[in-house]
Amino acid sequence: MMKTVATLILLVVMVGCWATPSFTRRREVVPENRMVGANLTSPELIEAYGYPVEIHHVVTEDGFILELHRIPHGLKARRNNLGEAQRVAYLHHGILGSSADWLMNSPDEALAYILAEEGYDVWMANARGNTYSRNHTSLNPDQAKFWQFTWDDMGQKDATSDIDYILATTGQEQLYYVGYSMGCSIYLAMLSDNPEYADKIITGALMAPASYMTGMKGALTLLTPYAEELDTILNLLGYHEFLPGGEWWDEAMQLYCDPSVVTEELCENVLFVIGGADHEEINSEYLPVILAHFPAGTSTHNLIHYAQLANSKVFGKFDWGTIGNLNHYGQRTPPLYNLSNIVTPTALFWGQNDYLADPTDVARLASELPNLTLNHMVSKPEFSHLDFTWAIHANELVYQYVVEYLANY
Ligand SMILES: *[C@@H]1O[C@H](CO)[C@@H](O)[C@H](O)[C@H]1NC(C)=O
Ligand SMILES: *[C@@H]1O[C@H](CO)[C@@H](O)[C@H](O)[C@H]1NC(C)=O
Ligand SMILES: *[C@@H]1O[C@H](CO)[C@@H](O)[C@H](O)[C@H]1NC(C)=O
Ligand SMILES: *[C@@H]1O[C@H](CO)[C@@H](O)[C@H](O)[C@H]1NC(C)=O
Repeated sequence: MMKTVATLILLVVMVGCWATPSFTRRREVVPENRMVGANLTSPELIEAYGYPVEIHHVVTEDGFILELHRIPHGLKARRNNLGEAQRVAYLHHGILGSSADWLMNSPDEALAYILAEEGYDVWMANARGNTYSRNHTSLNPDQAKFWQFTWDDMGQKDATSDIDYILATTGQEQLYYVGYSMGCSIYLAMLSDNPEYADKIITGALMAPASYMTGMKGALTLLTPYAEELDTILNLLGYHEFLPGGEWWDEAMQLYCDPSVVTEELCENVLFVIGGADHEEINSEYLPVILAHFPAGTSTHNLIHYAQLANSKVFGKFDWGTIGNLNHYGQRTPPLYNLSNIVTPTALFWGQNDYLADPTDVARLASELPNLTLNHMVSKPEFSHLDFTWAIHANELVYQYVVEYLANY
């Protein structure tokens, strides 16, 4: 009981810090004794593990300057000349995530390195508004206008720009799409509205696919009924960015989440009430590294979009209110995504204990995808939403199946 109460208190505190306006790179405040990964950016992390890394910038049609991180080849793969095959993989992170989500785990458990070793040319997205993609040709993050986006825009504009850029740069005609959580919503939004991209993607491997939110469980369901009010209040107060970042966050993490302090378990519980509990798969030692990279920032609208789906029980675009909808879509209600347009072969990988991509919602998605090639349930019953990025046995439980699936295309 105490645990639950304490967890809820910390949750409220965390929600309360949505509004921290300052943004600082975490490196200055991470103490020396932290594991080195907490101190590094994604490219530095890749370098630290001895892999080659490239940084690329892509400008979207509406001026966002996105940063892509690339591991052109693996270490063993290069030695075996497997790297020459040029199978290009595009990895899209989840909400509040970044390219670091694919890089933080130890190299034998992190998907980016695993794919590089399998001979893939690995490109990792950073959606607009996250730590690495906060630049714009005419706007800046201090302006409300910068933050008027959700993952729908990431699907229509960011992912499409990234994919065109990657194909042009590599000289390939097609690539493999690997998404996690919001990275899957982006894939679905992109392909339902831009069927011409179906041919640019060999296949999509979607992990913890966030789509319908009808079965959402856990702490976030306490907030969803107030989604509209929250959106209005936050916007009225001038908080357009959802980023529990800055010094407040770093101090809280040091205070509560360090493996050497008693509240470390409490910190884990906060993650568990959001994504589903799986005590065996979280590496407490590694928590500071994870929390130094995550959350990586996004717009408040982006989160509210999911809350709206939990309330509306449909899979559609952001609800801007009647007048806003007329402006954005030329109709009073948000258009729904037409999943029957997604002819690209698509595989789903999901967990039974996932609070945010609930098995009933995944089943509904599976039934509506016209070219479902694999519907893979992770065998461990406790496997939860967050486990897909940082579980101790992520490779054994999920990634090896993803790799095997992609190898067949
Ligand atoms: C973190 O980065 C700073 C500055 O780059 C460096 O001085 C420090 O030694 C690093 N700490 C660790 C634990 O690597
Ligand atoms: C942002 O992009 C502009 C080009 O539009 C560039 O001149 C500037 O250096 C970039 N700023 C950062 C911080 O990367
Ligand atoms: C969805 O797309 C399919 C084929 O792509 C089309 O036949 C159908 O009419 C569309 N449905 C809606 C509601 O637009
Ligand atoms: C599924 O994808 C394959 C490969 O692109 C394609 O040949 C096939 O027509 C697709 N099937 C459907 C039902 O769209």
